[in-house]
Amino acid sequence: MPRRWAVGNWKMHTTRDEATALAAAIREGLDPATWDPKVLGVGLAPPFPFLDAVREAVDGTPIAVVAQDCHAEAKGAFTSAVSVPMLASVGATHVIVGHSERRSLFGDDDPAVRAKVEAVLAGGLGPIVCVGERLEQREAGEAKAVVEAQVRAALDGLGDARDRLVVAYEPVWAIGTGKVATPDQVGEMHTFLTALLIDVVGGPLPVLYGGSVKPGNVDALAEAPGVAGVLVGGASLDAGSFLQIVAACAREGTERWNSSTSS
Ligand code: PGA
Repeated sequence: MPRRWAVGNWKMHTTRDEATALAAAIREGLDPATWDPKVLGVGLAPPFPFLDAVREAVDGTPIAVVAQDCHAEAKGAFTSAVSVPMLASVGATHVIVGHSERRSLFGDDDPAVRAKVEAVLAGGLGPIVCVGERLEQREAGEAKAVVEAQVRAALDGLGDARDRLVVAYEPVWAIGTGKVATPDQVGEMHTFLTALLIDVVGGPLPVLYGGSVKPGNVDALAEAPGVAGVLVGGASLDAGSFLQIVAACAREGTERWNSSTSS
């Protein structure tokens, strides 16, 4: 699995035709001359009903199809819920778990997030676990403690699954607000997370940054210490913007790849 990722989270946007067209445009626009899928994974997270159509649209490419959430149970009387085996059966390979919108709007607390992470792993898929502090927590100087508690609750003891785990740091105050964290703030939290994850799962994990990532700020964010790519909301709904973001992450990934293999 690649150690860097650019993932587009389409949230509750697109119709079937729009989703298919967006996936096709991204597929067409990915430039094999600059994008090496071994260095940078690219994932698309459409709404549940369009996972299958998006998978078809990217068939035969290394683009990963990602679900935005799942239920922790594999099946049962849970009207409206979608299980990991269902997601696997339509070709999803990864599942976003614990997104702040799930936490704040749908009541996904730490135990629920943990149960979903375990379900994703049990189903053979890879969780992308989102963590991040709210504005008042940052202002109270609690950002690291909040993020550490979320990480430990979600991942403690899961070192054996390390190869399939991805973490996304998404400060809640920067999501969908246009208010982007500074590269210094991002670098500081990612450096903290890098060390924390070694303690929690016994080795480094890819840690993505998410929150108002745009073509104009992605370079500075992607090169911040410890950043292994991005999770993009709004800007991933426009193929041109998302492709620029992918290109920036691919450039940064190739530079880091080259310097790690030459040293
Ligand atoms: P945004 O969303 O890029 O629109 O801020 C990021 C996310 O929620 O993953």
